[in-house]
Amino acid sequence: MLTKEKVTELLNKMKDPYLHKTFEETGAIQDIKIKEDKNHVSIKLGIGNPNSAEQMQLQQEIVNKLKQAGAATVGLRFTKLSDEVMKKFEAAAKKKQEAELLGTADTKFIAVASGKGGVGKSTVTVNLAVALARLGKKVGIVDADIYGFSVPDMMGIEHRPQVRGEKIIPVERFGVKVISMGFFVEDNSPVIWRGPMLGKMLTNFFKEVEWGDLDYLLLDLPPGTGDVALDVHSMLPSSKEIIVTTPHPTAAFVAARAGQMALQTEHEILGVIENMAYFESRVTGQKEYVFGRGGGDKLAEVLKTEVLGRLPLQQPYEEEDVFAPGVYQEDHPTGKIFLSIANKITKKY
Ligand SMILES: Nc1ncnc2c1ncn2[C@@H]1O[C@H](COP(=O)(O)OP(=O)(O)OP(=O)(O)O)[C@@H](O)[C@H]1O
Ligand SMILES: [Mg+2]
Repeated sequence: MLTKEKVTELLNKMKDPYLHKTFEETGAIQDIKIKEDKNHVSIKLGIGNPNSAEQMQLQQEIVNKLKQAGAATVGLRFTKLSDEVMKKFEAAAKKKQEAELLGTADTKFIAVASGKGGVGKSTVTVNLAVALARLGKKVGIVDADIYGFSVPDMMGIEHRPQVRGEKIIPVERFGVKVISMGFFVEDNSPVIWRGPMLGKMLTNFFKEVEWGDLDYLLLDLPPGTGDVALDVHSMLPSSKEIIVTTPHPTAAFVAARAGQMALQTEHEILGVIENMAYFESRVTGQKEYVFGRGGGDKLAEVLKTEVLGRLPLQQPYEEEDVFAPGVYQEDHPTGKIFLSIANKITKKY
């Protein structure tokens, strides 16, 4: 016959699959009832991530364990652990999940998102990464825009990654390590993978790649609030976000949705970057607000964050010996703005 003490003893040694702590440490057991006549045990259990696949598996394990110990039937009810307990263990659990994914801890993730396409996410990702590298940081880029990859072209990367043992070595340019779907498709043909394979691809970009020690890993997200953006949010729970918008109020309005998604999934927003903010005449120095004004400020206000920088409409200098059509030089006015944004980021994160 099972007793409450025996059940407690059996369960307390088990681990919360999300928090990686024993039930004893999390104080998971909230109630045990035993109906002696039917030999039925019912338990109320607090866990870190209820209603998940992890819970289903845990449920099976507990039922098996208690039946082996003599219970005829088992009833289980799960609730979420209190905020207090979650606060105590969750941050470490998130870091552990990411460390397992990347193979190293202490990397700070920055996801670059936008509402609309074509507003300059990839430009921001690439140049921010290069600017952070110019500040001496160890930086990587995951081009998470699986269909619309553009990072290799922008950086002028022409060769493919090498494979060492079981791992892929990211391609390095301007001191930034890069991995992109573009490295794995032939002749720029369209990528037609769907759903589950996409998620797997993204996981592979972390697990199968030899990143080494990184200070920052930037993710160039596809536009909008689709599957990939969601995957990134759940895969990298500690990632912070930068939202890119143009100055047009409509663009800012759409960008706010991407920001809200980040906030709903508990990702902190580092700030907003307003791209194509103005055009400055080289002749007169006069600024023209070609795409309207105020979008960046409005977005920052809605998301309760700051505008990290405003980028003018301008191309990088053309150089004969260096081909990287999307990378602004260090002495280029836009290159300098990126350095100042990178500086702000290293202070905040
Ligand atoms: N400030 C700028 N001045 C001039 N051209 C720019 C600027 N920002 C971006 N561009 C150009 O605009 C185009 C779109 O930019 P980019 O590819 O960075 O946007 P994106 O948001 O990543 O687009 P997508 O949604 O397709 O991924 C590119 O050709 C890029 O070179
Ligand atoms: Mg892009």
